[in-house]
Amino acid sequence: MKFSALVERVRGAGAAAWRTHYEAVAARERGEDVLILSVGDPDLETPAAVVERAIRQLRSGDTHYLPAAGRDALRAAIARAHARRSGQPVAAENVVYLAGAQNALFVTSLCLAGPGDEVVTFEPLYPTYPATIEVSGARLVRAPATAACRPDVAALGALIGPRTRAILWASPNNPSGVVLNEQELDVIAGLARRHDLWLIADEVYAGLAPGGRVPSLGATLPERMVTLGSLSKSHAMTGWRAGWLVGPRELALHAEHVAMCMLFGLPGFIQDAAIAALELADEAEARIREYCSARQALFARGIAGIAALRPLLPEAGMFMLIDVSGTGLTGAEFVRALYAAQRVSVMDGAAFGAATAHCVRVCFATDDGTIERACARLRSFCEAYLG
Ligand SMILES: Cc1ncc(COP(=O)(O)O)c(C=O)c1O
Repeated sequence: MKFSALVERVRGAGAAAWRTHYEAVAARERGEDVLILSVGDPDLETPAAVVERAIRQLRSGDTHYLPAAGRDALRAAIARAHARRSGQPVAAENVVYLAGAQNALFVTSLCLAGPGDEVVTFEPLYPTYPATIEVSGARLVRAPATAACRPDVAALGALIGPRTRAILWASPNNPSGVVLNEQELDVIAGLARRHDLWLIADEVYAGLAPGGRVPSLGATLPERMVTLGSLSKSHAMTGWRAGWLVGPRELALHAEHVAMCMLFGLPGFIQDAAIAALELADEAEARIREYCSARQALFARGIAGIAALRPLLPEAGMFMLIDVSGTGLTGAEFVRALYAAQRVSVMDGAAFGAATAHCVRVCFATDDGTIERACARLRSFCEAYLG
């Protein structure tokens, strides 16, 4: 039987990057001793008040259809949270509640780009970006990173042409933890004005940046700015699939139509729980920041002095890139060899683009014991390998 051209576009080249991770997950389910640092899912509980609100709503029968764009009270709460973080005055009508930032990017992609168009993003990039942009028929164009793993905004202009519709970035970045600064955003804003482009900021890690703030173009260019967010990382609520897009009213209307076709609304008891989560956002974000900074320090101490490993310290977030070229291995080779020898699963840097193919990415948002044991195994692996 025949399938659509779309199935090829969503297949994504990044699937192979998850091989070791899924092997490790299966091994853990069999009760084997594996340490998993390959996925960005914080090892913290959902805040109790959020769980309680969901249970209360479930018991009270909040189990029916809801508007496709989300409950008004939730859209208003998201608008307030966004306005507070970015300084961009927005209201409920600018918000569409979706099933995570991933879903919000998918909807944004379908609303803004199509066959023949291009969307530019920076390496290193989150591995679902290519398929999520190219599902629309558009092509994802990758701007290089500087040696310090920052977006090379000077190279951006040359990649923009008549087909370009949007510039997409994540700040803080996954995997580098880089937060785009005002100067970099100024260059992006200039290009957006000159070439009439949309700007898509993936701020799923914004709550993990210092003070829960990241520089934003929301207040400067509200007419072309789309911001994606969720509760996944800030509140350790990855499995609740609670996210959103914030943008101009017209985009929100189009996004609502896509959401209608795709989702026909999302569960009300989770939407009410999301309101409870936003009510305690300051507390939840402080918790995850504290958690990540303590684990990052522990991890950095754990691998200090391993000559072959050069950590690239993040500005924010839950990931660290480690340059493994001192071992003579590529990131992909390192991932396989480390898992085979020590049963520690980390992610190949090449999954995020060619610029980080000499790196691996670790997620340090896990318990102290796992970090300590993983660091000891990394040390043994490097000593044995180089020895
Ligand atoms: C940069 C980036 N964007 C989006 C997502 C998806 O987040 P959500 O759980 O809100 O869909 C992730 C998840 O790891 C991510 O790292």
